[in-house]
Amino acid sequence: MSSSQSPVKPRLAPSERLQNVPPYTLAKVFQNRDEKMRQGVDVIDLGVGNPDIRPPQIALDALQAALVDPKVQNHRYPSFNGLPEFRSAVAGWYGKRFGVGIDSEKEAIALVGSKEGIAKFFLAHLNPGDTILLCTPCYPAYLGVAALAQVRLIEVPLLAQNDFRPDLGAISEADARAAKVIFLNYPNNPTGGTETPEVYDEVLAFARKYDLFEVSDIAYCDLPLDPSYRARSFLQHDRDKERSIEFHSFSKSYSMQGWRLGFAAGNPEVIGNLARIKSNMDFGVFMAIQRAGLAVLNGPQDYCADAAKLYRARGEAFLNALAPLGVPCKLPRATLYLWLPIPQGFANSLDFTADLLDKTGVVVSPGSGFGNAGEGYVRIALCADEARCREAGERIVKAGYTW
Ligand SMILES: Cc1ncc(COP(=O)(O)O)c(C=O)c1O
Repeated sequence: MSSSQSPVKPRLAPSERLQNVPPYTLAKVFQNRDEKMRQGVDVIDLGVGNPDIRPPQIALDALQAALVDPKVQNHRYPSFNGLPEFRSAVAGWYGKRFGVGIDSEKEAIALVGSKEGIAKFFLAHLNPGDTILLCTPCYPAYLGVAALAQVRLIEVPLLAQNDFRPDLGAISEADARAAKVIFLNYPNNPTGGTETPEVYDEVLAFARKYDLFEVSDIAYCDLPLDPSYRARSFLQHDRDKERSIEFHSFSKSYSMQGWRLGFAAGNPEVIGNLARIKSNMDFGVFMAIQRAGLAVLNGPQDYCADAAKLYRARGEAFLNALAPLGVPCKLPRATLYLWLPIPQGFANSLDFTADLLDKTGVVVSPGSGFGNAGEGYVRIALCADEARCREAGERIVKAGYTW
């Protein structure tokens, strides 16, 4: 073909599945941030939930010990579902933390971070065109993988006036009947909303009524900013694991996000399906990392309480700095996020995010990236030290926004 003809088509186009995935909203934000940094701007990055604190010493020690222990052959392929000792530690943690019994053989699986397990849950259980109920705003990976799996997404909005809890009564009978799965994440990224026992009971009754499977994600369950709050597990309600699975992560409670370690526990058939799909797509988690993870689960849990205190102090520093503006935002009961309505005069959260970066050098995430119900908000990730969080608040005050 000559150069005067139409442009050459790429030899290998992305699959329809991949084309279906919308562009990552945060990508543009990161691009702008990197550009500012190149220009020498003193950027305060509160965009990503990427903990900056050191992982538990027990994890570092156990990893080091596992690497030099001549008796264990960490270099070999691990099993798809995780070391038996790791799965036992998961079961032990569920027993201690929630009083829930887990059969470590059949009801637990190690994951290369919970994101991996969530994506494979979709691929293992949902066909293109299947309907799911997803509470939003939510962790953006849910939206991406739902698009990748080509499922029909019904967003169940989590609204401030309902304390960011789902209004199941607002779901139409037709949607409830069509759906296969309902997804919940408490404590919630990005809103910081928390569950109640009644909400979990109601969701379980709803799932039974409409024959839905329930997926719970408790990635933030051990980061209570309100010390009187103690997160629950959905499995405390569905004790027979009749129709639920729960994902958990080492990334937030233990700041081990780069280690890529998580797990799922719950319905044995679904755990089996995850093992089956994993056996075709990956080889599980490096065994030395699993050994570090199991040491953390078996050890004292004061690391999480200390981390939560730190995030609380950062959140307070930021909000106290903003106090003169009367911003309608308070510290949530858990997570490492603040969910801030956008100020007056902005059409949407993306516009405000861009303006904020330009005027103050503060990076936040636009709420629209978390689903339709996220528009009108931005998420602040408390992943910079207390002084920087305070400074971010002060810069926002100086910029003259009004709420
Ligand atoms: C709600 C939620 N679930 C899961 C994850 C992913 O965790 P992991 O690092 O274990 O893949 C995140 C990460 O931000 C999250 O916010």
